[in-house]
Amino acid sequence: MILKNDKDVTADALAVMAQTTDPRLRAIMVSLVKHLHGFVRDVALTEAEFRAATAVVNEIGKLTSDTHNEAVLMAGSLGVSSLVCLINNGDNGNTETSQSLLGPFWRLNSPEVENGGTIVRSGTSGDPLFVTGRVVNRAGEPIAGAKVDVWHASPVGLYENQDPGQADMNLRGKFTTDAQGRFRFRTVKMVGYPIPTDGVVGRLLAAQHRHPYRPAHLHTLIVKPGYKVLISQVYDPTDPHIDSDVQFGVTKALVGDFVRHDEPDPTGTAPWYSLDHTYVMERGETVLPKPPIK
Ligand code: BEZ
Ligand code: FE
Repeated sequence: MILKNDKDVTADALAVMAQTTDPRLRAIMVSLVKHLHGFVRDVALTEAEFRAATAVVNEIGKLTSDTHNEAVLMAGSLGVSSLVCLINNGDNGNTETSQSLLGPFWRLNSPEVENGGTIVRSGTSGDPLFVTGRVVNRAGEPIAGAKVDVWHASPVGLYENQDPGQADMNLRGKFTTDAQGRFRFRTVKMVGYPIPTDGVVGRLLAAQHRHPYRPAHLHTLIVKPGYKVLISQVYDPTDPHIDSDVQFGVTKALVGDFVRHDEPDPTGTAPWYSLDHTYVMERGETVLPKPPIK
């Protein structure tokens, strides 16, 4: 179409999107163009702002590497990762769900560990934490033989891949649930940490007077054929940022029962902590996500 005015460009672009053969891709592209054009009109985007926006998109790509994923950080900082999770789980948002954000730090092939073993692989400060978990279906029945991948940041607030001071795969491990659907392991109590702020996301947070912290949490990714892969996080309710997660990830169902114990543990250490949590899996296709980093 030879355009007469701005309305024509929207109509023409929508007509072209409507030619997409695949019906799902067609629906997505038509809606995307509708909303993008609506957004440009809504904020009356200037030419300078448009150039700045394309530069930001390019910068997000350039900042992303095998060990850093700026796009995931940005999606989370805009609340989009959490929204996608919540509309796709728990009966499409109608009931509680154990599902949560994957985040940018899950790695494939974390080492298998015996139930009761530790995931501390190099000198890591922090109070001992004993985790017991139970994996069940929607009816509350145990799921045996599920593979439970766990990972968390160290008490200095860094994942092992961000920190040359930690052994490879420190604070990561893979467990198998027993006949009662249980797994258990030892680690150290995690603390909250700031997401990386040296890129575009950091500039956004600064512009909005937002702190960069995620409250202390334990990640899990649970695989059992016949069930949707369960990507979950459990949060520490005593963390000062429990109700202001920079990634909007905390839901009621994910607030953990961390218990402080002041009597010494078997090694004579006090205080120590325990966490017991039940993870609910939903039936579905078992598809592993692509790891955001290597
Ligand atoms: C995380 O918890 O690992 C995470 C999630 C989203 C963005 C950044 C970090
Ligand atoms: Fe995390």
